[in-house]
Amino acid sequence: MSKILIKNIKSLLLAGEDLPRYKAGAEMENLNTIDNAFLAIEDDEIIAYGKMEDWGGITDWRDLEVIDADGKMVMPAFCDSHTHAVFAKTRESEFEDRIKGLTYEEIALKGGGILNSARKLQTMDEEELFQDAMVRLEEMMSYGTGAVEIKSGYGLTVDAELKMLRVIKRLKEASPLTIKATFLGAHAYPPEFKENHQGYIDLIINEMLPVIAEEGLADYIDCFCERNYYSVEEMNQVLEAGIKYGLTPKVHVNQFSIQGGVAAAVQHNALSVDHLEEIDDQDIEALKGSDCMPTLLPGCSFFLSIPFGAGRKLIDNDLPVALATDFNPGSSPSGNMQLLTSFACVKMKLTPNEAITATTLNTAYAMGLDKTHGSISLGKKANLIITQPMESPALIPYSFGANSAETVIINGKKVK
Ligand code: NIG
Ligand code: FE
Repeated sequence: MSKILIKNIKSLLLAGEDLPRYKAGAEMENLNTIDNAFLAIEDDEIIAYGKMEDWGGITDWRDLEVIDADGKMVMPAFCDSHTHAVFAKTRESEFEDRIKGLTYEEIALKGGGILNSARKLQTMDEEELFQDAMVRLEEMMSYGTGAVEIKSGYGLTVDAELKMLRVIKRLKEASPLTIKATFLGAHAYPPEFKENHQGYIDLIINEMLPVIAEEGLADYIDCFCERNYYSVEEMNQVLEAGIKYGLTPKVHVNQFSIQGGVAAAVQHNALSVDHLEEIDDQDIEALKGSDCMPTLLPGCSFFLSIPFGAGRKLIDNDLPVALATDFNPGSSPSGNMQLLTSFACVKMKLTPNEAITATTLNTAYAMGLDKTHGSISLGKKANLIITQPMESPALIPYSFGANSAETVIINGKKVK
């Protein structure tokens, strides 16, 4: 049995037994802080926490590691609820093309973008895909991420989509991170189905989904609802087929244009609607009264120079907000959750506390992990960050580009 006691914590963040499944509106500012605190871990679980003066827990001091967190914050590890962390190759030449003036959409229309990634992945060996993804996950952990959702969607053939999902399944077994898998066969139309959308949707429904369900390869079903990609009607077909196989929708909507995908996804009980760089009042109305998590991806806005999602407006409308990396080779080649908090504060006018809630508690909910991750609560997974010494958690978004995680504990074990 392994035991860790963290003592003299300057502030323990998001700690409590009565925290909601996610926070919305003004409540996102409340970090449920315990100052001058301790935290005890046994194996991979949080078994006690509280104020230092209330310490009275462990009586058996054998094999106990004691960490002094004097002057430091302890917070739940980040949950990254939207990534494409399994991919074949980086796409820096498209980055250079964009610097010279082409837009992401123009590059995609010329056969670049998702189709470029798909061509490379289709010929790549499963073992190499797995090894490369493991390296990315290691780096994400070093920045304090403890759970990751990973999508397929760079396969776009029956074999290549299944290959991606099998890689994700292997990552679930091999990595200490908690991983959720999302089937995104509906990410783009392969060139041979450009004029025959229904043909490819039929392939998703009749050839891919039955195998995915049979082998338990996915938790969620996704679709890229966007002009030049999937229409709302096409998305509805894909989501309804996924739901029949027990997959919950979690979708890409409103990245470049408003198609009505937000309301359609909410009607299909989507767990989250992600991107929302574009949003209108009807979308906001559709989200109100639902339990669907609006998820903003500021790394993508930064990297593609497109609008940042209306985080402030969503919160001011009493809605929740989650923030994820969208880690992928085209629109957001970074898995650093800390950097996102900086973008969200500077460009979306979230407060530092709101940004921390949005990357922990709310992203845990957005990947179905609210019972086990995202807060410091008894019995939850011991996935924690011990920060560098700091006076206030605002130093995390303030120190943009730095790594404010001094120690990272995943499943009760130090990984940094
Ligand atoms: O979330 N927008 C759709 N999919 C990804 C980007 C895919 C790519 O460019 O490779 C995203 O931004
Ligand atoms: Fe994405």
